[in-house]
Amino acid sequence: MIVNYMISISKKSLIKILILSVFILCITSLKAQSLNEIDKAITIKIDSIITLLTVEEKIAMCHAQSKFSSTGVPRLGVPELWMSDGPHGIRAEMNWDNWNYANWTNDYITAFPALTCLAATFNPALSKDYGVSLGEEARYRKKDVLLGPGVNIYRTPLNGRNFEYMGEDPFLASTMVVPYIHGVQQSGVATCVKHYALNNQEHSRGHINVEVSDRALHEIYLPAFKAAIIDGESWSIMGAYNKFRGEHCCHNQILLNDILKDKWRFDGVVISDWGGTHDTDQSIYNGLDIEMGTPSNNNISKRFPYNNNFLGQSFLDKIISGQVKESILDDKVKRILRLMYRTSLNKDRPFGSINNKAHSNTAYKVATEGIVLLKNKNTLLPIDNSSDLTIAVIGENATKSMTTGGGSSELKAANEVSPLKGLRKRFKNANIIYSLGYSSENKTKKDKLNLKKEAISIAKTADVVFFIGGLNKNNSQDSEGADRQHYNLPYNQDELIESIAKVNKNTVVVLISGNAVSMPWRNKVMSIVQSWYLGSEAGNAIASVLNGEVNPSGKLPFSFPKKLSDNAAHFYGKLSYPGNGETQYYKEDILVGYRWHDTKSIKPEFAFGYGMTYTSFKLSNIISDKKTYNSVGTIKISCKVKNTGDVTGKEVIQVYVGKKNSKVKRALKELKGFKKISILKGGLEKIEIKIAVDKLAFYDEKISDWNVEKGDYIIYVGNSSDNISKQIPITII
Ligand code: BGC
Repeated sequence: MIVNYMISISKKSLIKILILSVFILCITSLKAQSLNEIDKAITIKIDSIITLLTVEEKIAMCHAQSKFSSTGVPRLGVPELWMSDGPHGIRAEMNWDNWNYANWTNDYITAFPALTCLAATFNPALSKDYGVSLGEEARYRKKDVLLGPGVNIYRTPLNGRNFEYMGEDPFLASTMVVPYIHGVQQSGVATCVKHYALNNQEHSRGHINVEVSDRALHEIYLPAFKAAIIDGESWSIMGAYNKFRGEHCCHNQILLNDILKDKWRFDGVVISDWGGTHDTDQSIYNGLDIEMGTPSNNNISKRFPYNNNFLGQSFLDKIISGQVKESILDDKVKRILRLMYRTSLNKDRPFGSINNKAHSNTAYKVATEGIVLLKNKNTLLPIDNSSDLTIAVIGENATKSMTTGGGSSELKAANEVSPLKGLRKRFKNANIIYSLGYSSENKTKKDKLNLKKEAISIAKTADVVFFIGGLNKNNSQDSEGADRQHYNLPYNQDELIESIAKVNKNTVVVLISGNAVSMPWRNKVMSIVQSWYLGSEAGNAIASVLNGEVNPSGKLPFSFPKKLSDNAAHFYGKLSYPGNGETQYYKEDILVGYRWHDTKSIKPEFAFGYGMTYTSFKLSNIISDKKTYNSVGTIKISCKVKNTGDVTGKEVIQVYVGKKNSKVKRALKELKGFKKISILKGGLEKIEIKIAVDKLAFYDEKISDWNVEKGDYIIYVGNSSDNISKQIPITII
């Protein structure tokens, strides 16, 4: 009877499920159909507009008309295209034809945390919120294209622009970049993912020729771009300054035509980096659509000041003389028009908004979730803010603006809470004494000594010291245009930290940087907090973590080597980094970041994926659903996570996979999945992480394609790349 009842229930539900599935299928296909219809209608419109444009008008659309715009065709209602940096806020307005700011009063914005911080959250849902808020600000500022996000892989800690990127792991960067793009583009603003590709250093960036194997190219340096284009559907992409296999990336046959436009079927616009175009023929044939930043004739009273661009008059001459087919020009213009239909000509796009509560909340949430607690001896942190402690705050970064500087990503923030201000707000009962300790400005020897003396004397009498230093966005630090010159902290901070730690055992070092730094004082201080360039809410976020209002949950998106030569790019010497002035060889190949540390057993100072919290977690019942899989299957890893501490917290469960006895070179393990979960104190959650077996493929140079090697693999599950709770053997058949 019970069995019959169950059968009848399951029959009924089966019918219901069937009806529902048919309904869902119909809706999805209707949706797809209507999207296709819209696409078709737009293509028809574009085809008809093309016939109305003169050759001159089309050429003008393919290059700049000012520092940040390209021209439209007013007689036909084709709008101008307006672009702005990117990637963590909307840059202030610049003058029409030079690099000075225009000094408008309505271009103050919310500064969001830099992308290293976003990556450190390991939280794709937050990346979506980030994109949404940023897109709304871009839209409000009437931008059609946002010049970001940046997804160049973190290869060396010296790269001046690492802070604009999403770390050293292609899977992490790919996972985080897609929701960012979806978020921005829902405001009808195109993202322009940059810098495609291999722009992994600022040193000699305009001409260095990168030589890298196909495997490293496809496995390490391209995946985040591929995800941005295929899964994120970014409507534009920016070529990089450097060369790859002898050709500048802004007009590079392999990168732009063969891979981006042919293999990935990219239907958007390739925009050059500013001043990254070098040749007319290559620009015409090798995939570039809009040339930006090539200096104009500098006579802006002339009607066509940018005619001397490579895609200007000389392109026009070649079309008129019949040397170049007009269809090549038409392809570029059609792409630009399609971009306009997705942005400025999209009548449904929202108005956007700026500097509102929702945006500062997003900035704050990302900042707090991205901060990484690296060390916390004797659980010194969090510091109770109800007690009347004397707190010495030492270091220039406690007061220095970090939204300015750094190059093209610098911002004009409507509001920026400095760490000192944030601490004063959150530690109301404390007696906070501030001392600079060191200075990035040119000081005499005597002045420097006095700064140090003062800092040490206040450190001596304080209950706790917050040393807030690190890098800043000055030239040759974390800044565009030049790399860092050494791995140490600048301005004698290492020595200062050691002296402070000698007189006060409760020293907390808060590092503000977008890069790893050496830490000779690691064992002498009590706690270390890795903070990034956190934007408008910096001080509030740092103070909330220090007083425990927020339980830290960030994880390092890149390894911190103990010394520079422990980093793979540096291990191989000058030819590998920074190159010989002309060329560099990525000799470490696929072994970038933790792949190198793991495979070569070189212990880092702090490992990729590492980060502590104020609670503790225990992983148990870590299992895979099967022991063997075929090459089109999905591996399901499940585990239980218990919050065994006293406060609610978030943990990131990370799944790495390695191939045993591979026929090709392999990293010991590679990140293939992760999940961030929030668990109440004492709570227990079960999580599942799925990995499609085809994601275990290596790029097989022999067939120029991905190849899933059969045989034995190990799945590593843990909460950082160097803290694995369980290894599970599986076999692919
Ligand atoms: C940078 C780009 C930036 C552009 C416009 C270039 O120097 O490399 O990232 O978008 O300038 O400011």
